[in-house]
Amino acid sequence: MLTAGQRLTGRSRGGLKLVSDREGADVSLRLTVIGTGYLGTAQAACLASLGFEVLGVDSDPRRAHALGGGIVPFHEPGLQPLLQAGLRTGRLSFTTSYARAAEFGDVHFICVGTPQAADANRADLTQLETCVATLAPLLDRRCLIVGKCTVPVGTAQNLAERLALLAPGAELAWSPEFLREGHAVNDTLRPDRIVAGVQSARAEAILREIHADAIAARVPFLVTDLATAELVKVAANAFLATKISFINAMAEVCEAAHGDVHLLAEALGHDPRIGPASLRPGLGFGGGCLPKDIRAFMARADELGVDQALSFLREVDAINMRRRARMVDLARELAGREGFEGSRVGVLGVAFKPDSDDIRDSPALDVAATIHGLGATVTVYDPVAMPSARRVHPELGYADSAVDAVRDADVVLLLTEWAEFRDADPEVLGKVVTKRNIVDGRNALDPVLWRAASWHYRALGRP
Ligand code: UGA
Repeated sequence: MLTAGQRLTGRSRGGLKLVSDREGADVSLRLTVIGTGYLGTAQAACLASLGFEVLGVDSDPRRAHALGGGIVPFHEPGLQPLLQAGLRTGRLSFTTSYARAAEFGDVHFICVGTPQAADANRADLTQLETCVATLAPLLDRRCLIVGKCTVPVGTAQNLAERLALLAPGAELAWSPEFLREGHAVNDTLRPDRIVAGVQSARAEAILREIHADAIAARVPFLVTDLATAELVKVAANAFLATKISFINAMAEVCEAAHGDVHLLAEALGHDPRIGPASLRPGLGFGGGCLPKDIRAFMARADELGVDQALSFLREVDAINMRRRARMVDLARELAGREGFEGSRVGVLGVAFKPDSDDIRDSPALDVAATIHGLGATVTVYDPVAMPSARRVHPELGYADSAVDAVRDADVVLLLTEWAEFRDADPEVLGKVVTKRNIVDGRNALDPVLWRAASWHYRALGRP
């Protein structure tokens, strides 16, 4: 345990990262990760792979049990083997007990969810509040608490003040995570940068020690105050959302002016000041992060009296939502009827993006459900997201393959650009549909190939 007299040594033995205790003996640095969603599970498994002793904590007994048994209860490439490897070494385990976590941890990483409030744009911090209220009274020794989740600026300072009363030996740091779903393992082990919002040199030293491998690999390590660290995360997501909405706004202009947004994006992306990332036009952004983060950022700016500074994010959100409406319009147009009554629509993809089974605020699922609501018979297929989609939208039809989803369809919609759909053979799908109509919601297909196979190909922002 890392107590007042202990020093970080930077050494390891038998794969375990060590610290030096008051008498100079080497003991291991023990970490807890509280909240085991995408972020927390990736953190826990990656930290164990780096040689730390890690205890994952989740209040959901089923989740803790599944993870302890080597099962990742969501789709994240590469995570399950890493989890299983960590369990085999004995360095990684899971619990529901905060008391055990308090006793175990030198450093506690807080990775709980901060979703959008049900009735407003602001973030719902209930999980974070509960976590701190439960953990703090149990902490009876010196430790560092590191917030990883996305929070409104000012949250960390509030928590630090509460901790000072509830657990005087505990210090708070904020070190936001920038991982993308579908790339969680690589983004955690080799992030673009590490941001350490700290209040003391000791907290900085501990975070440097934990990230020693990444720092040695020249990952930039930036030391900030708490507020700046919180802001880096929301500002990064606001920027990414703005970039995506920018190119989608250009798609609207291209549609009116007979330009091609796909070529436009490619040409813009060659400018190194702009770059090609997050410049793919299409159905827009969804998921558990970008949409709720820009809304929570606006809500917080409002509270701080600087709402005007972020008023552009309202437009970013509006452009994004208009893409979904435009997709529905294009589908209706191709279905060849006034409304959707009597049409059959085959939908490829319901996850918010490929390589994920996450359907939170998924543009794809939203479009599918809207078209069903307008009277079409909608059949969907997604390589991994069907169980979660079926729970939320049992009214949709679910097929076992792409071919079955588009069978007898009047129009096919590609809504999530899984590799399986990008590589689909237009002849194979063409044989089973009623009419060869496709709307490429992600600009993922080659129009020349599909048109050569006699498909009526349409895409957002392309002629
Ligand atoms: C996003 C950020 O990229 C991460 O850096 C951040 O850590 C994470 O949120 C978070 O806050 O936890 P993620 O939601 O996994 O990560 O997904 P992205 O890859 O950013 O994609 C978000 C959405 O934008 C998806 O629906 C995707 O289809 C869409 N998108 C992305 C586009 O429409 N066009 C693009 O060019 C890129």
